[in-house]
Amino acid sequence: MSATPPNAPVVLARELKQVYKINRGFMRPADHLQAVSGVSFTVLAGKTLAVVGESGCGKSTLARMVSLIEMPTSGELTLGGMDVVKASEQERHALRRKVQLVFQNPFGSLNPRKKIGAILESPLEINTPLSHAERAEQARAMLALVGLRPEHFDRYPHMFSGGQRQRIAIARALMLKPALIVADEPVSALDVSIQAQVLNLLADLQQELDLAYLFISHDLGVVRHIAHDVLVMYLGHAVEQGDKTTLFSQPLHPYTQALLASTPGIAGAGLAKKRMVLTGELPSPLNPPSGCVFSTRCPHATARCTSERPALRELADRKVACHLAEQFV
Ligand SMILES: Nc1ncnc2c1ncn2[C@@H]1O[C@H](COP(=O)(O)OP(=O)(O)OP(=O)(O)O)[C@@H](O)[C@H]1O
Ligand SMILES: [Mg+2]
Repeated sequence: MSATPPNAPVVLARELKQVYKINRGFMRPADHLQAVSGVSFTVLAGKTLAVVGESGCGKSTLARMVSLIEMPTSGELTLGGMDVVKASEQERHALRRKVQLVFQNPFGSLNPRKKIGAILESPLEINTPLSHAERAEQARAMLALVGLRPEHFDRYPHMFSGGQRQRIAIARALMLKPALIVADEPVSALDVSIQAQVLNLLADLQQELDLAYLFISHDLGVVRHIAHDVLVMYLGHAVEQGDKTTLFSQPLHPYTQALLASTPGIAGAGLAKKRMVLTGELPSPLNPPSGCVFSTRCPHATARCTSERPALRELADRKVACHLAEQFV
C-alpha cells in the first residue's frame, strides 16, 4: 500500500454487499439479512468519508468489511490498489497492517494489565524485527504525537480519562503506519468538550500523516467537523452520498433532511427542519419495505415510492436514491 500513487483511492468499494444467514431453528429454512445492500464509495488519502445513519443501518458491517474482518458476500473491494476479494490469505495478512481500527469504547480495547508503553509496542513486536529500544523509542514518539506526556508511558489504562484512553487507542492504531483508519463511533462515548479535542487530534494527524479515514457516526454534529464526504445509509442502502458541504447545505433525500433536522446547531438545517422530523419505527432489516426502503417513514411517499425501488442517481452534485428528489433541489 505504501506504493499507492498520490490521489489514488485508498479504498475503492463497488456494490459491496453483506448478507447474514440467520438460523431460525431445527428444520426451519434460514432467513437472510442484508446488512449492507450494494454500497459503492471511494476514500482518498488525506480525506475522510463519514458513514452516517441510525442504529442497524449497516455502518459497523461496512467497517468490518473494509478492515478485512469479514469478507463481503459480493461486490468489489480494493485497498491500496489490491483487490481484497481476489487476494491470497498471505496478501490479506499484509494488508491488515495498513488498515487499523479505532472503536467507540477505548477502555474495552486496552489490556488493563499492560502499561501504555507495552500496549503501543505490541504491534511492533508482533509485526516488525525492531529491537526493544527501537520499539520503545517509536512508542514514546507516538505518545507525544497524540498529545500525551512522556510519564504516561509507564501508566496503566485505568489511570487515564476517556479522552486520554481514546488518544492511546489512536496511538496504538498508528504504530504500524497505516494508510487507513476505520473509526467506528470513536467519540460517541466521550463528553462533548472532549469529543472536540479528539476530533481535532484526528484532523491534525490526518494532515500530518496523509491518512484516509472511514469515520462512522450516527451524529451529524460530529460528522460536520471531520468529514470531507458523507455516505448516508438507511437499512443497508446508500440513500444519499456526496461532498459534505453539498449534503449539509442542500440535503435532497428526505432521510438526510430528517437526520439534519434532528441535529442541533447545524447550518442549513433550518431549511430541513421545516421539511420534516423523523417519526415512526425503523423497519426490520429481515423484512425491508418494498419499493423505497424509507417509504414507510417518509412524509412525501407516493404509490410509486412504495412499489418501485429508486436507483441511486446523480443529481445536483451528489448521488441520491429518491424518486422525488427534484422537488427538493
Ligand atoms: N454477525 C451478524 N449476524 C447476523 N446479523 C448481523 C450480524 N452483524 C450485524 N447484523 C445485523 O445487520 C444489521 C446491521 O448491523 P450493524 O451492526 O452493521 O449496524 P450499525 O449501523 O453499526 O448499528 P449501530 O449504530 O447500532 O452500531 C443489523 O440488523 C444487525 O442486527
Ligand atoms: Mg455499529
